[in-house]
Amino acid sequence: MRIRRKKWARPELEVCPYYIENGEEMRGRWHGAFSVTDRPLYLEIGCGKGIFAAQHALKYPDANIIAADIKADMLGVARRNIEQMFSAVNKTHDNVMLLRMNASLIEKVFAPEDRIDRIYINFCNPWNRGKHNKRRLTHPRQLMQYKEFLSPDGEIRFKTDDDELFEDSVVYFEESGFDICYITRDLHAEDDEDNLITEHERLFANEGKKIKALTARMKK
Ligand SMILES: C[S@@+](CC[C@H](N)C(=O)[O-])C[C@H]1O[C@@H](n2cnc3c(N)ncnc32)[C@H](O)[C@@H]1O
Repeated sequence: MRIRRKKWARPELEVCPYYIENGEEMRGRWHGAFSVTDRPLYLEIGCGKGIFAAQHALKYPDANIIAADIKADMLGVARRNIEQMFSAVNKTHDNVMLLRMNASLIEKVFAPEDRIDRIYINFCNPWNRGKHNKRRLTHPRQLMQYKEFLSPDGEIRFKTDDDELFEDSVVYFEESGFDICYITRDLHAEDDEDNLITEHERLFANEGKKIKALTARMKK
């Protein structure tokens, strides 16, 4: 997703108490980054403008979530959205962190001791041209890294509008040692009250595109 340069993003992030610029320093210690350390720990990769993470943090105050993106400008917008969405309901938050991270280097940022309970991948770039497939956040190269720090009962929840990315990802998960325990090719037809709608999900659904989703767990 393209985003216009936001001059204010970096200065605001620099003084944001829940923003982490260098995730490598937190490797193996992510539970301790939160004021309540014994909550389930979730990670959203490619959080964009942070609407999903903000909704998640509001709806599940007893879960901690790290919202990660490669772009600081995007995280600056996410920070503003989180502040705005919590202040709109007169609440404060202690269960969301923002992280600048390139997912292709994720093993430098998360270790097995971090025991991530759930990874969310929402509407990642499809990278459908063959030679670019490796950049997909669901590519086996990525899934093998995620397995290193997912807790044994942990899961990955993936949503996309893109048919080719989705069908290829089903194969990626199966080939990488995951069981697919939930799958739908029309999420919105299922009327799932627990589904938190992301910015891209709203855009694509409004265009009439069907939203595909799956949940995958590591084979025992
Ligand atoms: C299409 S947007 C989706 C945003 C949001 N998840 C949603 O559903 O609306 C993809 C996001 O992934 C981020 N991204 C792309 N490649 C990434 C990478 N290698 N590591 C981390 N984030 C990445 C982009 O900056 C962008 O914010």
